[in-house]
Amino acid sequence: MPVTIHSLLDCKRRGERFAMLTAYDYTTARILAAAEIPVILVGDSLGNVVLGYGTTLPVTIDDIVHHARAVARGAPNQLLVGDMPFGSFQCGTDLALRNAALLLENGMHSVKMEGAGFVVELTAMMVERGIPVMGHLGLTPQSTNVIGGFRVQGKSESAAQRIRDAACALQDAGAFAVVLEGIPRDLAQTITAELEIPTIGIGAGPDCDGQVLVITDMLGLTQDPMPKFVRSYGDLGTQALEAARAFAADVRAGAFPDDAHSYH
Ligand code: KIV
Repeated sequence: MPVTIHSLLDCKRRGERFAMLTAYDYTTARILAAAEIPVILVGDSLGNVVLGYGTTLPVTIDDIVHHARAVARGAPNQLLVGDMPFGSFQCGTDLALRNAALLLENGMHSVKMEGAGFVVELTAMMVERGIPVMGHLGLTPQSTNVIGGFRVQGKSESAAQRIRDAACALQDAGAFAVVLEGIPRDLAQTITAELEIPTIGIGAGPDCDGQVLVITDMLGLTQDPMPKFVRSYGDLGTQALEAARAFAADVRAGAFPDDAHSYH
């Protein structure tokens, strides 16, 4: 049965935790579908892990659409969330609505936007027009130039209160879930208890309703040092390195292809 935004709300009501992972291509989406990962995010993290940028800021709506189409072909029954990249929703309501519609036209079932303030109003407008919205609060990488890098957010009482208020405002605006990134565990726990919609944590401790990781981090493919909150469930980076070396060595030695891998 296809996963919908209502499946996630039901999970929260039943007290069942759920997983979300990012994917950017067809093959990975098929694997995540086979693993019954209910929610797949075509995240703007693709700027870092697929395109090699230092931040997510250069990612465009066309980049997300390109990868969204591939993921949608690989995982038609999962709940697919398309990230609204920097510049796609900050420059006016009409453009934001058009870009969100573009993601749904290209196979996504919902969109994710970072931040609060004007995003709350935008969320209400999108939901009214049939576009489900996932919020994203706390450490919001698209605001790196404002928050001064990748730092845990919501540590002071007033900052924590602002994030709590923003989470409630997004819920009231009709968001179906909120990602909480890089905030203290206690704050995430409080927000999770306060909201009727699910929270999805990344670097926000174990008390959220769901958890999300970037797929390359989760698989152990990421070559750079990873943040404290990441746990790798595989070592595919090392395996890929060894496989590439073994292939090259076989080619040099004339051991590949052998007769069994040849046509007659
Ligand atoms: O782009 C992304 O991968 C994200 C997750 C880290 C939540 O926004």
